[in-house]
Amino acid sequence: MSRNALSVSDVVARDAATYKSSTVFDLLSLKGKVTVVTGAGRGIGLVLARTAAELGSSVALLDVLPTPADDLSELERDFDIRAKYYRADVTEFTQLAEVFDQVKHDFGHIDNCITAAGLVLDKPFLDHEWEESARIMNVNVLGSFFSAQLAAKAMVEHKRGGSIVLICSGAAHASTPSRRMSIYSASKGAIWSLTKNLAVEMAPLNIRVNCVSPGFIATEMVLDAASKDEKIWEQFRDGPPLKRIGLRSEIKGSVGYLLSEAAAFTTGTDILVDGGITSGRI
Ligand SMILES: NC(=O)c1ccc[n+]([C@@H]2O[C@H](COP(=O)([O-])OP(=O)(O)OC[C@H]3O[C@@H](n4cnc5c(N)ncnc54)[C@H](O)[C@@H]3O)[C@@H](O)[C@H]2O)c1
Repeated sequence: MSRNALSVSDVVARDAATYKSSTVFDLLSLKGKVTVVTGAGRGIGLVLARTAAELGSSVALLDVLPTPADDLSELERDFDIRAKYYRADVTEFTQLAEVFDQVKHDFGHIDNCITAAGLVLDKPFLDHEWEESARIMNVNVLGSFFSAQLAAKAMVEHKRGGSIVLICSGAAHASTPSRRMSIYSASKGAIWSLTKNLAVEMAPLNIRVNCVSPGFIATEMVLDAASKDEKIWEQFRDGPPLKRIGLRSEIKGSVGYLLSEAAAFTTGTDILVDGGITSGRI
């Protein structure tokens, strides 16, 4: 029966049959799934690979770094899943495509993809140069775009549908006084537009596409800047209405939710995890 042939009474019956049979814990499970995470060598990407593993998914971690910051055998042991690290640059398409082929070979299929590989640039708009700006766009936009495309192709191939979560940023939604993030914000604005576009284009293929926009989260990307400039640190600490910087653990719930069946009716959305900073300041 096509989805559109459902009658009202079919929907009533289906609703009555399902609302008690699946607990929210069942819905959040990723047992048997395979999740690819880019930028998973450290920072938010690494924690999101762990999130997928905690929910029962095997994980393929991809990053340009030689080795991941955590011991992956710990993940395999603690969560009874498979975890493998692949070294690749998301801006080298041939390399990236080879890694996705290798993941399919190693794990059999791909169900989920999280694109967390990203770079930041904080400098005045008037000083931006072409090469450094192109690098940001290449990693943040094209790297995410083609990682999502390779994941979607694998999902189509295996006819199991899937979920893609793009890591966007609060910078796509609001600018932060004293930080000069024009090209970075432009790249993350592109991710938000891409999310909505792909959600519509991929829906008939049963692939959901969403994004998560972190605010200031304590990773090397932001702590490097904060350790060099007290004003920047004060902004991370005092800027958000919740009056603190976020922790990587605080991104886990939103991404785990979007990957899972708990979000089966959610596509084309963005979850802000930003301590309220894009809503305004106290
Ligand atoms: N930390 C924050 O406050 C914050 C806020 C909003 C959005 N984000 C986004 O979250 C994502 C992760 O950031 P993070 O804070 O963990 O930063 P991070 O620098 O700690 O991690 C980024 C990871 O991406 C990898 N990477 C960079 N270029 C790559 C490439 N060409 N190919 C493959 N991997 C590459 C890096 O090696 C690194 O492991 C980024 O997309 C970033 O824009 C972070």
